[in-house]
This record gives sequence, C-alpha cells and structure tokens, in this order.
Amino acid sequence: MTTIGFIGSGNIGSALARLAVGAGHDVVLSNSRGPETLRELVARLGSRARAAAPAEAAAAGDVVVVAVPVRAYRQVPAEPLRGKVVLDTLNYDPARQGSVPEIEAGDTLPHLLLQAHLRDSSVVRAFTTVFFKHLADLARPAGAPDRSAVPIAGDDAAAKTVVVDLIDSLGYDAYDVGPLAESRRFAPGTPAQLAFLDPDGMFSAPGRPATSADLAALLDEVR
Ligand SMILES: NC(=O)c1ccc[n+]([C@@H]2O[C@H](COP(=O)([O-])OP(=O)(O)OC[C@H]3O[C@@H](n4cnc5c(N)ncnc54)[C@H](OP(=O)(O)O)[C@@H]3O)[C@@H](O)[C@H]2O)c1
Repeated sequence: MTTIGFIGSGNIGSALARLAVGAGHDVVLSNSRGPETLRELVARLGSRARAAAPAEAAAAGDVVVVAVPVRAYRQVPAEPLRGKVVLDTLNYDPARQGSVPEIEAGDTLPHLLLQAHLRDSSVVRAFTTVFFKHLADLARPAGAPDRSAVPIAGDDAAAKTVVVDLIDSLGYDAYDVGPLAESRRFAPGTPAQLAFLDPDGMFSAPGRPATSADLAALLDEVR
C-alpha cells in the first residue's frame, strides 16, 4: 500500500484517485480552491481518501501525481516534493488550458517543463495518453490478454520502477519509452497518444485497449 498525493483533483486526478483507492492505496487530494471544496469527492472515495492543501498533499505522498493545467505548473510546490517520485500527467493544450509564455517562446518543451520546475524530484511522465473517462474501463488484472499499456518516460530508473509497480496495481502495464526527452514520442497528436481512442467515436466512444505490442508499433511511427 502506498500513499499517493494529488496536486490537482479534477478529471484525470480524481479518476486516478478512484483507481488507487480501489487498489488499496491511500490518497491525499488537493486543488487550487481548498480542501473543503473536495469534501464530496472524498466522501465518494471513502475512508482511504482525505483532502489537504497542495503542500500537505505533496508532503504526504510516497508518490505524488501532478494533474493541473500546464499553465499552473509554477504553483506546484517544489520544496515538499524534493527527493520524491512525481508522476507527471500534463499535456500542453494552450487553446483549452491557457498558454505558457516560455513554451510559446520556444525556451522549453512542454514535456520537460515539470522536471525543470521540480529540479530535485524524480519526474516520470505517465497516464498522459489515457482519457479520464476511459481510465477505469480499460483497467484489467495482471496477465489479462487485453491489458493495456501506458507509456512512461523519466530520467531516474529507480523512480520508474516505483511507477511501474504503481501502474501495475492500477490495472495497466507500463511501457518504458526511455528518458524524459523521449516522451516526445507519445506527445499530444502522436499515434501512441491516441492509442486508446477509437478513431470513429474518438472521445465519445468507449476506450480501445492497446497492449504493449500495440503500443510498441505505434511508438515506432515516431523516430
Ligand atoms: N482529462 C484527461 O482525460 C487528461 C488525460 C491525461 C492528461 N491530462 C492532463 O492532466 C492535467 C489536468 O487535466 P484535467 O482534465 O484533470 O483538468 P481539470 O479537470 O480542469 O482539473 C484540474 C485540477 O487542477 C487543480 N488546480 C489548478 N490549479 C492548481 C494549483 N495552482 N494548485 C493545485 N491544484 C490546481 C484544479 O483545482 P480547482 O478546480 O480548485 O482550480 C483541478 O482540481 C492537464 O495538464 C491535462 O493535460 C488530462
């Protein structure tokens, strides 16, 4: 059992928290408006869930999920995340989430932004490819033939081992794409990022399982 902190508890954060609680983990949720605004969500998740301020959720987590709009990345508290494994779910979508000047200016790349901000944490990108509504439906027990794989990338091998185990407990295989920079191969708009989306129905359709072998072929399309 792991305690998972959440910085951001909206669509993807709360969907991951639900899976985590189901897997027997404790979760500490946070958002920008304060713990009292998460009361209903905590009640729905049950006794393994509580809400806190972002710094407290960061401090409480053995692993901490960051699931905020990219434009808010500077507000993710760096100090309590020092030395921790951080799961980076962020996808840069300026039209829907607001733009980030340093990305627009070409000073940095979206997939490297959080690690640059959290210099003393071990950031692993994961779950950037799963639409929140598909997250629970695509989860499968270990060994299921249609168990889906999520691509991960990070610069710290030990942190990736922790994340692989966590992902396994949530009902997915992890597919290690390599260092953080290689997460460009599953960036928004790439074939791997769209792996779980049925092209006919896209977001309105049920999720489509994609195994490690499926994912490997899709990742190969971006060299
Ligand atoms: N939605 C998906 O299916 C999906 C899938 C993969 C990755 N992602 C990525 O995950 C991130 C979150 O997406 P989402 O769809 O979950 O967004 P969302 O539903 O709008 O939720 C965003 C969450 O972040 C919180 N937040 C905002 N600013 C914050 C701050 N300064 N400190 C702490 N919490 C803050 C919000 O809290 P308040 O409501 O209190 O402001 C809210 O709980 C995005 O970067 C997105 O690209 C999303």
